[in-house]
Amino acid sequence: MNFQDLTLDHDWSDAVRIRNLYNWTNPVLPSDERNSFAMSRKQRNDARFVGVVDGAAVSYSPVTETTNSPNGDYWFAAFVDPNDPHRESYLAKAVEESMRRIAAFGGKRGMVESRGEYEWEAPVLLELGFEKTMTLPFSCLEVAEHDYSYHPQVVTFSKFLELHPEDGVHQIWRCEMECAADLPLPFPFVETPYEVFRERILEDPNVDLTCKFLFWEDGVLRGLTTLWPSKVNPKLAATGITGTRPQYRRQGVARRMKEHVIAWSKERGIEKIFTDNEENNPMFQLNLQLGFRKLFDYEVYSKSC
Ligand SMILES: CC(C)(COP(=O)(O)OP(=O)(O)OC[C@H]1O[C@@H](n2cnc3c(N)ncnc32)[C@H](O)[C@@H]1OP(=O)(O)O)[C@@H](O)C(=O)NCCC(=O)NCCS
Repeated sequence: MNFQDLTLDHDWSDAVRIRNLYNWTNPVLPSDERNSFAMSRKQRNDARFVGVVDGAAVSYSPVTETTNSPNGDYWFAAFVDPNDPHRESYLAKAVEESMRRIAAFGGKRGMVESRGEYEWEAPVLLELGFEKTMTLPFSCLEVAEHDYSYHPQVVTFSKFLELHPEDGVHQIWRCEMECAADLPLPFPFVETPYEVFRERILEDPNVDLTCKFLFWEDGVLRGLTTLWPSKVNPKLAATGITGTRPQYRRQGVARRMKEHVIAWSKERGIEKIFTDNEENNPMFQLNLQLGFRKLFDYEVYSKSC
C-alpha cells in the first residue's frame, strides 16, 4: 500500500467515495471536501491523502492540526470501506501513515474517532498502542415523529450579520468562545483568534450562514447552534456546536434553539438529524428529551507521537 496526496478532481472523488461509505450519515461532496482543505491549510497544518493498492484508492485520511489546543494535538481519520475484506490492514497502515505525517508536522499527539458500529476498528487501534480518551454517544432524531415550534428569538447568522454589519462577527465570536470554553474536549481549550474566526465565518465557502443559528434576546446573543444539511442526500443533516453563554444557562436557551432547528428542518424535508455528544454532557440528556435515540458510541483514541 502506498500513499498519495490529492491533487486532481478524480483524486478527491475517490477519497470522498470512501469517506461517504464509511460515514454514511453525513455524506459530503468532493468539491466541498476540497474547499475545506484549501481553507484549512491556509490557517494550520493539514494533509489529505489516500492509500492505494493495485492502482485503486482503499483509504482516505485527513490529518488536521487542532487550533483549539495548546499541546500540538492533531485530529485525523483513516476512512476505509467498512465492507472491504482487507479493512483492518488498510486501517492500520493508514493510521501509521497519519501518525508519521503528524510527527513530520512537529505534532505531539494524534487523535482519531472510532465509529462504534464498526466493531473491528477499536482492536486495530489498541494493537497500535492507542488509548481510549473519550466516549461520545451518536444519536438520531426521526424528524417526522416530532412537531416543534419556531421561536422568535432564534435567528440565522446571515440575518444577524445583515442587521449588524459593523460588529456582528465580533459579537458572534465572543458568544462562541464563551460557550466553547466549557465544551468537553480531550485537551485544554484555547480561544480561536478573532481574525482566524472571522476568516472562517466570512470566507469559507463551506460555511452556510443560513444554517447557523443564534439565540438573540434583549439585544444580547445568548447561545448558538449549527445544522449541516447534507448536499448529497437532502433528507439527512447533522447538528452540533450548540452552546449557551454561562450566565444564561438553565433558562431553556438550548432547548428552544434545538426545537427551532428541528421545525426548520422539517419544513425543508429533512428526515433524519444526527448528532454526537460527550457522554456526561447535559446536551446529551437534552437531546434524548427532544427525541434523539442513541445509535452507537463514537470513541476517541489518542496516542503520543
Ligand atoms: C449544554 C448546554 C448547551 C445547555 O444549555 P442550556 O441553555 O443551559 O440548556 P437548557 O436550559 O435549554 O436545558 C434544557 C434541559 O437540559 C438539561 N440540562 C441542561 N443543563 C444541565 C445541567 N448543567 N445539568 C443537568 N441537566 C441539564 C435539563 O434537563 C434542562 O431542563 P431543566 O432546566 O428544565 O431541568 C450548556 O450547558 C453549554 O453551553 N455548555 C457548554 C458547551 C457544551 O457543552 N455544549 C454541548 C456540546 S455540543
